Amino acid sequence: MNDLFTISGKVIVVTGATGVLAGGTAQYLQKNGAKVIYLGRNQQRVDQALELARTISEDCMGVVCDVLDEKGLQTAFGKVLGKFGRIDALINGAGGNMPGATIGPDQEIFDLDIDDYGKVMDLNLKGTVLPTLIFGKAFQKQGYGCVINFSSMSSPQALTRVLGYSNAKAAIDNFTRWMAAEMALKYGDKIRVNAVSPGFFISKQNKALLTNEDGSFTDRGQQVINKTPFRRFGNQDEIYGPIHFLLSDASAFVTGTVVAVDGGFSSFCGV
Ligand SMILES: NC(=O)c1ccc[n+]([C@@H]2O[C@H](COP(=O)([O-])OP(=O)(O)OC[C@H]3O[C@@H](n4cnc5c(N)ncnc54)[C@H](O)[C@@H]3O)[C@@H](O)[C@H]2O)c1
Repeated sequence: MNDLFTISGKVIVVTGATGVLAGGTAQYLQKNGAKVIYLGRNQQRVDQALELARTISEDCMGVVCDVLDEKGLQTAFGKVLGKFGRIDALINGAGGNMPGATIGPDQEIFDLDIDDYGKVMDLNLKGTVLPTLIFGKAFQKQGYGCVINFSSMSSPQALTRVLGYSNAKAAIDNFTRWMAAEMALKYGDKIRVNAVSPGFFISKQNKALLTNEDGSFTDRGQQVINKTPFRRFGNQDEIYGPIHFLLSDASAFVTGTVVAVDGGFSSFCGV
């Protein structure tokens, strides 16, 4: 048997675990034998996620916590260590956008709502940095651990309209490299920090932007498809394999990378 890819028994904290991509990933990991902590900010949604998780296995736990709440994260950290005694990995899945941090088609660049811009920067960037600093202490102590961040295709190239989110995701790429280097230099080569960068997957937030009610593409959806050699959006389960790889020993020498999961969007100029 090749155990390079084994993730069974790993204790994995997933933020944003009530959402589409991170939530689906959390269930996938549990189905593959991992012990998964579903971290979300809404009690009812965490309860719902946990109800489903328990149909997979009892090796799970729900924690209600905002990723921007330092005290709440410290409490969550204590609860996870109390139950499982260690943490093998952290997946920073919480993230998202707000209309005010984007420029609508009829708006001027100068109409950007700087408060919403700040909120989106905070959620995506600080909401990744803070959990990493708190849960990462377990990795320092143990001498091993793994962080996986969520970047976006709006990071490496300019994506029209979307400013705050793009700025934050670009900073996440940088944070991923920085943290990978610092962790390894200070605590050794068993701590790895990487990111996945999803192309366009249909989520609650972007569904109306990319598809019409009859399932056809909006103009923006069509523009995305035109720049995607696979000529389709991503399916939720297509993010699971790259994350599995980054969590497993198969990627033991991989750190500081941002893995594009995008049907070729980032490699293709569109022509
Ligand atoms: N769907 C896509 O096409 C796409 C593309 C690129 C990157 N991403 C990134 O992937 C990740 C998951 O996105 P998704 O599409 O599943 O979106 P989603 O909206 O379904 O999930 C995001 C989750 O984050 C949670 N969240 C938001 N603010 C929070 C806070 N302050 N504290 C704790 N949790 C909070 C939400 O409740 C939600 O459950 C995000 O970081 C997103 O930016 C998604």
